[in-house]
Amino acid sequence: MTNVFGSPHKGTGPSHEQVVFCHDEASGLRAIIAIYSTALGPSLGGTRFYPYRSEGEALADVLNLSRAMAYKNALAGLDLGGGKAVIIGDPATDKSEALLRAYGRFVQSLNGRYFTACDVGTYSEDMDVVARECRYVTGRTVAYGGAGDSSVLTAYGVYQGMRAAAEAAWGSPSLRGRRVGVEGVGKVGHRLVEHLREDGAEVVVCDVNEKALERVKVRHPEVEIVDDAAAMVRADLDVYSPCALGGSLDDETVPVLRARIVCGGANNQLAHPGVEKRLADRGVLYAPDYVVNAGGVIQVSDEIEGFSFERAKAKATRIYDTTSRIFALAAEEGVPPAVAADRLAERRMTSIGRLRGIWLDR
Ligand SMILES: NC(=O)c1ccc[n+]([C@@H]2O[C@H](COP(=O)([O-])OP(=O)(O)OC[C@H]3O[C@@H](n4cnc5c(N)ncnc54)[C@H](O)[C@@H]3O)[C@@H](O)[C@H]2O)c1
Repeated sequence: MTNVFGSPHKGTGPSHEQVVFCHDEASGLRAIIAIYSTALGPSLGGTRFYPYRSEGEALADVLNLSRAMAYKNALAGLDLGGGKAVIIGDPATDKSEALLRAYGRFVQSLNGRYFTACDVGTYSEDMDVVARECRYVTGRTVAYGGAGDSSVLTAYGVYQGMRAAAEAAWGSPSLRGRRVGVEGVGKVGHRLVEHLREDGAEVVVCDVNEKALERVKVRHPEVEIVDDAAAMVRADLDVYSPCALGGSLDDETVPVLRARIVCGGANNQLAHPGVEKRLADRGVLYAPDYVVNAGGVIQVSDEIEGFSFERAKAKATRIYDTTSRIFALAAEEGVPPAVAADRLAERRMTSIGRLRGIWLDR
């Protein structure tokens, strides 16, 4: 059984503040909302609509995802805590107006402790439906004041993190002349290719989807294409950028990786704890995924105050500084960057969260 009151990843450290099970039989809604931390403000994280095989699997996922959001939001410099929700079901067949609105009523019942947004299986149009019952929704359509496709600033943020890694590895943030392998040229990956080409990098790509590859080929016929992800990690690269699914760095791929830097948009790139140390031991500089891919959450969270692209972009530009600070802290404390990132996030949650102890009459 999942240990709700224990820390999902580590034996120590704080655990979740609140986990809410939501059920509406008539619409078929079965959802779990997990709030890991509100130390920095209301929790924010998307709603994943997915056909989990069991409630246990859904619970384990939402506990992990909500914790990850607390760390991501903390290092993105947001005044937001970490939360996430899962809806159990197949979005293609189970999603309905009634189900989404029932879900919205449960989110509303948390009275602002949790803001929802899109994730796997949910779209801005769905958030517009949820918002008919609930004030605490972001990631909405442009027609409703939303920020639009969050992959714009996600790709931009990954590029900023990559520049910081280049500076740490080679003494210059420029990627001119560097060979960068982008694994997955979907929403984030193809936009990253644009930034890289503009900077003068040589780009190598792969994707399982022909259409995605075609889009890159049309715009950039000079980009090299390799067969698959296995060929990508073995390729002669300066930077390996996972932008497809998580878990691409594991016991098989790390020993054959030739790149000096790993920096990409995919979530959960490290297949299991310990991979960060194996990367560091091989001299590979790993830019922690949740730090460099925070541009998307920066973009959607900006909507809460009324969306300004320029303001959100300015915040995403700071991913460069945060990534640099993490590399500096890692060197100072003799730990891999992934560990340094966790420490920096925990320090911000503690030092800023503590301020609530100063009493104010409001
Ligand atoms: N979109 C965002 O704003 C955002 C924000 C933060 C993190 N992320 C993460 O970034 C990653 C990419 O997100 P996206 O929005 O671009 O998704 P997407 O579905 O648009 O793109 C993913 C691409 O990867 C390809 N792919 C899948 N399996 C592959 C494989 N084995 N080898 C090569 N290519 C493969 C797909 O065909 C697709 O083109 C995901 O891990 C996502 O969780 C996205």
